[in-house]
Amino acid sequence: MTEPVITPAARAPGAAAYGADAVIVCDNIVRIFQTGSIEVQALQGLDLVVQPGEMVAIVGASGSGKSTLLGILSGLDLPTAGRATVAGHDLLTLSARQRVHYRREVVGFIWQQTSKNLLPYLTAAENIGLALSFAGASRARRRERTAQVLDALGIAELAARRPHEMSGGQQQRVAIGVALANEPAVLLADEPTGELDSATSDDVFDALRTANRVLGTTVVIVTHDAAVSGRVQRTIAIRDGRTSTEVVRRTVVDDAGAETVHAEEFALLDRAGRMQVPAAYRERLGLRDRVRLELESDHVGVFADRAAEPVDTPETAADDPSLSPFRRPRRARTDSPDSTDSTDSTDSEETGR
Ligand SMILES: Nc1ncnc2c1ncn2[C@@H]1O[C@H](COP(=O)(O)OP(=O)(O)O)[C@@H](O)[C@H]1O
Ligand SMILES: [Mg+2]
Repeated sequence: MTEPVITPAARAPGAAAYGADAVIVCDNIVRIFQTGSIEVQALQGLDLVVQPGEMVAIVGASGSGKSTLLGILSGLDLPTAGRATVAGHDLLTLSARQRVHYRREVVGFIWQQTSKNLLPYLTAAENIGLALSFAGASRARRRERTAQVLDALGIAELAARRPHEMSGGQQQRVAIGVALANEPAVLLADEPTGELDSATSDDVFDALRTANRVLGTTVVIVTHDAAVSGRVQRTIAIRDGRTSTEVVRRTVVDDAGAETVHAEEFALLDRAGRMQVPAAYRERLGLRDRVRLELESDHVGVFADRAAEPVDTPETAADDPSLSPFRRPRRARTDSPDSTDSTDSTDSEETGR
């Protein structure tokens, strides 16, 4: 990629330290798994900033690194390189003792497998109480907080039931209660509705939203479920171990009082200034290897490298003036090494699998 000319005016004025006010900051996280002679780069320089009180969804194809990221944020796993901070805790330098405290009191975690979240021989209230006693809560405090959590989530009627006496959705809501017991700063959920039907996943999503809106907990949900990702303020897509795009939703109220949700998709720019041009755009305009960047007063133009362009038969993008900012006829590149890269599409969270 050619280096753009950066004038001082093109820089954000007075940019604060990266993620200064954020509750979650991942800075260039790398996680490499070594199994025998095979090395898998699950995270390849991932950046992520989440503000306190946000509720965000993380989407991406299977194997893109979502669970690896959540494992790191939950304190179960350590990155190979990079920096990760959650609620002021530097996850790379925690001692064993601090890590136990971190996992009990700073983050709450919900797994996809309902059976992994609760102890089978304890009731809902006892499961929540157990999480509180691990954190050293007194008996009175356990009773009070358990009732509070069950109430807030609207599941007080489940208090005396054991997991086998509850539906999958009810178990997940109790699991959210357990995760919230010690008032964590952040709630992490890895495909919490993955095993549920859509009506039940709505209930689980509502419980997560209650945790966010009523209790003020920051919530990060990894999900395949478009019904979930479509209802949060921000959906971040991970591709190949990096955050690549995000969709931000705003509710706009018109003069008549009608609410509409506006969704806007952004490509993410990392701290070194790198961004991913969606595969469909690259193919359409024949962008490959290197591009020309032109700094305009309010945007940056990205152009195919003309020197590399064969002058030949026209193709659709060049014929369509709305799609092509330049007139030069080009040839479809069937020999492009990128053409094998069919999985790397511009799929948004609705189609991201
Ligand atoms: N413990 C592990 N050992 C080896 N490879 C792993 C391990 N955990 C995950 N991976 C690999 O890392 C990549 C990302 O996995 P994961 O984070 O589970 O993806 P996702 O949750 O997005 O489906 C995959 O290629 C996966 O096979
Ligand atoms: Mg996963």
